Amino acid sequence: MTDHVLQLKEVTKTFGSGRTEVQALKETTLEVARGEVIAIIGPSGSGKSTLLTIAGGLQTPSGGEVHIAGERITDLNEKRRSRVRLDHVGFILQASNLVPFLTVSEQLRLLDKVKKGNMSAAERDGLFEELGIEELTGKYPGDLSGGERQRVAIAKALYSNPSLLLADEPTASLDSDRAFEVMGLLKSAAVKKDAATIVVTHDTRLTDYVDKVYKMVDGTLRLEEEKEAERLPDERTEFLEPEEERDGV
Ligand SMILES: Nc1ncnc2c1ncn2[C@@H]1O[C@H](COP(=O)(O)OP(=O)(O)O)[C@@H](O)[C@H]1O
Ligand SMILES: [Mg+2]
Repeated sequence: MTDHVLQLKEVTKTFGSGRTEVQALKETTLEVARGEVIAIIGPSGSGKSTLLTIAGGLQTPSGGEVHIAGERITDLNEKRRSRVRLDHVGFILQASNLVPFLTVSEQLRLLDKVKKGNMSAAERDGLFEELGIEELTGKYPGDLSGGERQRVAIAKALYSNPSLLLADEPTASLDSDRAFEVMGLLKSAAVKKDAATIVVTHDTRLTDYVDKVYKMVDGTLRLEEEKEAERLPDERTEFLEPEEERDGV
């Protein structure tokens, strides 16, 4: 068994053909291990979301292989691929993962119906408190603010204890302090639950929480930075204190 929850082997993605052809992803090989958190930064249109959705089996690549939890999902039909997604992958995508006609608690109850191994009630309550959404459980997504919706979406993704967590700009509609808290939460979830985590972000300050930073430019992924060692827990807490320089971002 490999220690890598996610393996991309020479994955490519091309949209359109002829004069309208766009090579969104050039040949990309990437491995993410259990407990590892990587960040992908890069300009808009460079292929970050394409990579993330292919990594989670939401889109099929034009070439190459994707393995999730040891299973080669590029060979599976859509039905089996969706089972792998349900069992192993947590998505925090830009398009909301919330069902509009279900309340916050109903969204989670639905997950309990289709899959085992989700958080215990106590663990869920702790998560809701950490995200400051414990008062929102009876509300519908349409009644929430953008920031609240984003935090509920994060809770929903973490609730299923995914072995692979894929987050596309998860802190985009959060204020600075919340953004740091959420990154801390994703990091501790990855470590505690041994989940491989990929976070696409514009915010380079958030990369302090990650093990590796990749940069995507024109469909090419390049390793920018690899952290020497784990941050100590108290250093991490210190990082959560509000600071002047974070204002206005
Ligand atoms: N479904 C699609 N059909 C056609 N082109 C697409 C599609 N999805 C993405 N693209 C193109 O692929 C490139 C990468 O897009 P994307 O992965 O969304 O970039 P990013 O997330 O870095 O902003 C862009 O040129 C975009 O226009
Ligand atoms: Mg994108």
